[in-house]
Amino acid sequence: MMRESTIQTIADACLTARHVVVVTGAGLSAESGLSTFRGPREALWSRYDPMRLATPEAFEQDPALVTRWYDWRRQAGLQARPNAGHLALVCLERIVTASGVGFTLLTQNVDRLHHRAGSVNVYELHGSIHEWRCTVTGQSFEPPPQPFQEFPPRSPFDPRGRLRPAVVWFGEPLPAEVLRVAAEAMESCDVFFSIGTSSVVYPAAGFAEQVIARGGLTIEVNPNETPISGRVNHAARESSGSWLPRLIAHISL
Ligand SMILES: NC(=O)c1ccc[n+]([C@@H]2O[C@H](COP(=O)([O-])OP(=O)(O)OC[C@H]3O[C@@H](n4cnc5c(N)ncnc54)[C@H](O)[C@@H]3O)[C@@H](O)[C@H]2O)c1
Repeated sequence: MMRESTIQTIADACLTARHVVVVTGAGLSAESGLSTFRGPREALWSRYDPMRLATPEAFEQDPALVTRWYDWRRQAGLQARPNAGHLALVCLERIVTASGVGFTLLTQNVDRLHHRAGSVNVYELHGSIHEWRCTVTGQSFEPPPQPFQEFPPRSPFDPRGRLRPAVVWFGEPLPAEVLRVAAEAMESCDVFFSIGTSSVVYPAAGFAEQVIARGGLTIEVNPNETPISGRVNHAARESSGSWLPRLIAHISL
């Protein structure tokens, strides 16, 4: 468990930083009951083959299977609630921005739990499972919460169209506007948190290295080791739902 004095150092750095950037991954939502993709237990990819589900080719080959799986995950997301980790990040944003420090939250999660918790400056690198897009017109919308009745769902925008989740699949480009915001945030970032991510999916996996190269402070929160664990200044081998509230307690003291 990370020492209180180390957490205090990190808390102090947040208040005197120029720009705090936080990158989150599926592990942050694990304590809300949503499965991660990679990890020792319960990981989604250990029960399903991602290449059959999260690629444009998979959707082309078996759109019913792919949309059924995503709708199942959408239902789980709708029933989940933000956990202590999400709420602590809302506090962190409020406290640092009140001190004139920049704050950007870049999430790889598609579950919208940061928004529901109350985070403001949050950007979804991989889209959202709560938005669905027409395969013909490209228009997207937020479907009503009830499960779809047919798979793949029919598009309300064009009779020839089907709906697909507005998430970024393997092999697809990330949203240009979100990438621009992320690049800009990383340029001025001097305190960087990597939370609940296995740090193997780019570009998020490369963000820590950019800050390390410039001599900024880097912190990882993950109960398990990742490729960046040995590179960051501080690695908290703890769950985000317990470590982040400890950080907030030190910042607000
Ligand atoms: N909730 C979601 O939106 C969700 C769920 C599953 C996968 N994804 C997708 O996963 C892909 C990227 O992978 P990733 O790195 O985000 O997830 P990942 O599944 O690859 O890794 C999850 C990481 O979280 C860690 N972890 C598990 N429980 C934790 C906890 N309580 N506190 C802190 N860390 C914990 C694990 O050790 C692991 O390193 C993205 O494409 C993203 O869209 C999103």
